[in-house]
Amino acid sequence: MPEIIIVKDEAEAGELYARCVADLIKAKPDAVLGLATGSSPLAAYQALARVVHDEAIDVSAVRGFALDEYLGLPLTHPESYHSTIHRTVVEPLGLDPEKVHVPGDVLEGAPLEDGIGTDGHIGFNEPGSSLASGTRVKTLAEQTRIDNARFFDGDINQVPMHCITQGIGTIMKARHLVLLAFGAGKAEAIEETCEGGVSAFCPASALQMHPHATIIVDEEAA
Ligand code: F6R
Repeated sequence: MPEIIIVKDEAEAGELYARCVADLIKAKPDAVLGLATGSSPLAAYQALARVVHDEAIDVSAVRGFALDEYLGLPLTHPESYHSTIHRTVVEPLGLDPEKVHVPGDVLEGAPLEDGIGTDGHIGFNEPGSSLASGTRVKTLAEQTRIDNARFFDGDINQVPMHCITQGIGTIMKARHLVLLAFGAGKAEAIEETCEGGVSAFCPASALQMHPHATIIVDEEAA
């Protein structure tokens, strides 16, 4: 079962994530990080950037693989995950852009940070996804397009219909999975993830079978 940590807020979750990843990079300077986009990891990336700078950690050899990407948006679109990962991770941490790939197709042995959709998706593996590995083209669920419209001026029509994502099998090969979720809107998905049966109806429930998964949630999501 995943370990579940209930924190006060996103800032506290960010501190936990940052300490864990900073120590990993110190011990393994060429660590591979799996990187999610969306709102959930933002405080964690900011906290990690602070620790990296305060402790002068050498990140020049760190590699990163994003979980997913929209199809149909130019890379230069501010909401493409290419742009988002560069704006929220590569630049603040000072990573080598050549070593960060969006989306990733090689992740084995990496620690991976993820958020969770209100419908239980991880990466963009929507309900009904198999445990397949590799990087796959998928159709976004209507609920996900509604949720993500906030990044597109509230207009669902601007949210792409399709995406490319690491499969659940690939995500499960990460050495350490960290799932972050905040707010009451995630409570049902977290309940299904932690206490429901392992089922394709809640892709994140696959974490129950991972040997080292950490779920960090605030009280509302818990
Ligand atoms: C994005 C990703 C998604 C998001 C999920 C939650 O790379 O993997 O699974 O983590 O859609 O998004 P937020 O954090 O914006 O609620």
